Amino acid sequence: MSSRIAVVPGSFDPPTLGHLDVIRRAASLYDQLHVLVVHNPGKEAMLPIAQRLTLLERSIAESDIEGDVVIAAWSMGLLVDYATDVGAGVLVKGIRSQVDVAYETPMAIVNRHLAHVETVFLLPDPAHALVSSSLVRQVSALGGDVSPFVPPAVARFLDTGAQRA
Ligand code: PNS
Repeated sequence: MSSRIAVVPGSFDPPTLGHLDVIRRAASLYDQLHVLVVHNPGKEAMLPIAQRLTLLERSIAESDIEGDVVIAAWSMGLLVDYATDVGAGVLVKGIRSQVDVAYETPMAIVNRHLAHVETVFLLPDPAHALVSSSLVRQVSALGGDVSPFVPPAVARFLDTGAQRA
């Protein structure tokens, strides 16, 4: 019997409740899910990858997400190389709007072309439709309360101001 393995890649800078919602849905659909922190060369990062990984691990550990969930980071090359290495044939992405469809479609086609890896788009809970890491970064940098938008572990971390030190 073949096992179904998928990867949820992202910058997770920082992880949001929208990310956790997509991870929860994906974990229920696949035998094994790899949640992968990936460097996005097109974005200026707020947090180092190791910190994002720690926040993701804490957030998932404190959540109700069940199943075989592996949390890892990847900065060694193409995302599809990681997927191929772990035997995953599917990438899972959350889609909040047409803007996300336009952003994700070229990447999905390139990834399929590179390694026959398919991309599955999941619709998050509408409650999270307007949440993005970039908004969280902006609100946090200006001293606002981001706790409605992020997992408790991320809210605690951002509250300390450690990331601005
Ligand atoms: O959360 P993000 O920033 O939208 O995630 C984008 C990410 C990191 C998944 C994307 O930039 C990516 O896949 N980077 C890895 C490099 C790669 O494989 N590029 C070629 C195919 S798009």
